[in-house]
Amino acid sequence: MAGNLTLTMIKPRAVEKNHIGPILGIINEHGFKIKAMKFTRLSKARAEQFYAVHKGKPFYETLTDFMSSGPIVAALLEHDNAVAEFRKLIGATNPDEAEEGTIRKLFAESMSHNAVHGSDSDENALIEAAFFFSETERY
Ligand code: CMP
Repeated sequence: MAGNLTLTMIKPRAVEKNHIGPILGIINEHGFKIKAMKFTRLSKARAEQFYAVHKGKPFYETLTDFMSSGPIVAALLEHDNAVAEFRKLIGATNPDEAEEGTIRKLFAESMSHNAVHGSDSDENALIEAAFFFSETERY
């Protein structure tokens, strides 16, 4: 059975461009419940840890440099079939391929600066949730 949790980050460039409010608004309008949320900044080492599955890929350095370049918003979201439903809402990783109305179509600038992260599996959603939030930080 599909899980009901997914983890998102609003990435540094979207934070810098004051897109936190509009992005959270869309997330709420689509019925995702915020279970936990944090305005924080990843160190380079923490960004490398978060994206460890991509270690060795050509974009890993750029990605982890960018993700540690400024503050982010991390949020744990609840919805039926959360991972798939959230990926539908954010659109394709490459904003050029993202459907109209999706968060990445609206706010992303490029594959690296793609506005938001969304977990890619239930298993990773739980790992990513634990990366940011203790049990007492979840409501
Ligand atoms: P995200 O959902 O945060 O998960 C991994 C990130 O790596 C992804 O969004 C993109 O920002 C980035 N990424 C994935 N593929 C590429 C690529 N081919 N070139 C540059 N960045 C990429």
